Amino acid sequence: MTKGKKESEPDKVVLAYSGGLDTSVLVNWLTEEKNLSVIALTADLGQPGDMGAIREKALKSGAVAAEVVDARDTFAEEFIIPALWANALYQGNYPLATALARPLIAKLQVDAAHRHCARYVAHGCTGKGNDQVRFEVAVAALDPSMEIIAPMREWLMTRDEEIEYARERNIPVPVTSESPYSVDENLWGRSCECGVLEDPWQEPPEDAYEWTVSPESAPDKPVYLEIGFEGGVPVSLDGNRVGIVELIGVLNRTGGDHGVGRVDIIEDRLVGIKSREIYEAPAATILVAAHRDLEQLTLTRDALAGKRPLEQSVSEMAYEGLWFSPLNRAIEAFNESLEGRVTGTVRVRLYKGKATVVGRRSPNSLYDLGLATYDERDAFDHTAATGFIKLWGLPLKIWAESEREAGGEKDEDVGGPV
Ligand code: ARG
Repeated sequence: MTKGKKESEPDKVVLAYSGGLDTSVLVNWLTEEKNLSVIALTADLGQPGDMGAIREKALKSGAVAAEVVDARDTFAEEFIIPALWANALYQGNYPLATALARPLIAKLQVDAAHRHCARYVAHGCTGKGNDQVRFEVAVAALDPSMEIIAPMREWLMTRDEEIEYARERNIPVPVTSESPYSVDENLWGRSCECGVLEDPWQEPPEDAYEWTVSPESAPDKPVYLEIGFEGGVPVSLDGNRVGIVELIGVLNRTGGDHGVGRVDIIEDRLVGIKSREIYEAPAATILVAAHRDLEQLTLTRDALAGKRPLEQSVSEMAYEGLWFSPLNRAIEAFNESLEGRVTGTVRVRLYKGKATVVGRRSPNSLYDLGLATYDERDAFDHTAATGFIKLWGLPLKIWAESEREAGGEKDEDVGGPV
């Protein structure tokens, strides 16, 4: 028997609740079919929507308790910042908004399960996606004794059947006609799939985008932003200090107004499926470009070379549900030790769908004008290059000489039978 539960009481389950039709129907289904008391847990990660109304809806759908956790700061500090340190872009393009959110939601669920002495956690992910993997692996990493229910994998209702099910049980159903897409949003970006987007040849219609205007309809004049970083963390905009959550919000709006951050890709899901995905991530696009540039200015060549492959590992671990793995934690510590130097300001121009870094400066800059310049301020010792090149090229020179000798012997061999 679960701790804190009386003999006759049903077991408790903490459901990751978004307020959509799927999870609303799930509240009822877990109660009726599985005889569980449902605690609905909604994470505010900066997505649009009235959190109070979502809570009400959970209760109307039959939850015994409904909690909304404002996790925006935690999301930014413990997930987005480490991802930014890793300049994380899955397969070079996707800034991982959905992927980064899942381990945090799982953590909030496990915390709530402990508070409520719940035996189960549940999610509304289907059996085809990455999110089920991320939730379940994160839960296992955080509390290996927690039991997980994934109703969508065993119970395949069509949307019409869900609406019918909901109507019969007085569960609120959406009144407006729903978007033809499957959308997930948070501070770090918006993910959009399904509908006409499933044809990879079809250009995404404008209604697939909500955060960004098209580059064609973006203003004809660029806007310039100065983003200040301290220890790899963005801390100011145009000279004014601003909290990370607010900064990301401003960059999403300004970037979106200039058409920055649209991504249209074919992506490899962990379960082996290729899928067509549309992303909008103006702030992530701007911040990764700015951060990466400031690293180039402040970190040594070998530190950068050591760091880049680890960045790819972080992107893959975030995507593949391994956020809480020891390797990810170790790479975060590695990055943290270098990021202390990544302080300075980056100037970015937003114009017609592009974010371009056009200037950078830092108290830790490794750029030395005396060494770089070609004008009369040149302080570089040109004569030192002679010996350097001699030694740098020595292995190749020895190789080439040996090849020539071997080639010469072969030529002699061709002389015919002895
Ligand atoms: N393909 C992306 C990922 O796995 C986005 C998933 C979006 N989820 C959604 N419910 N629309 O991270």
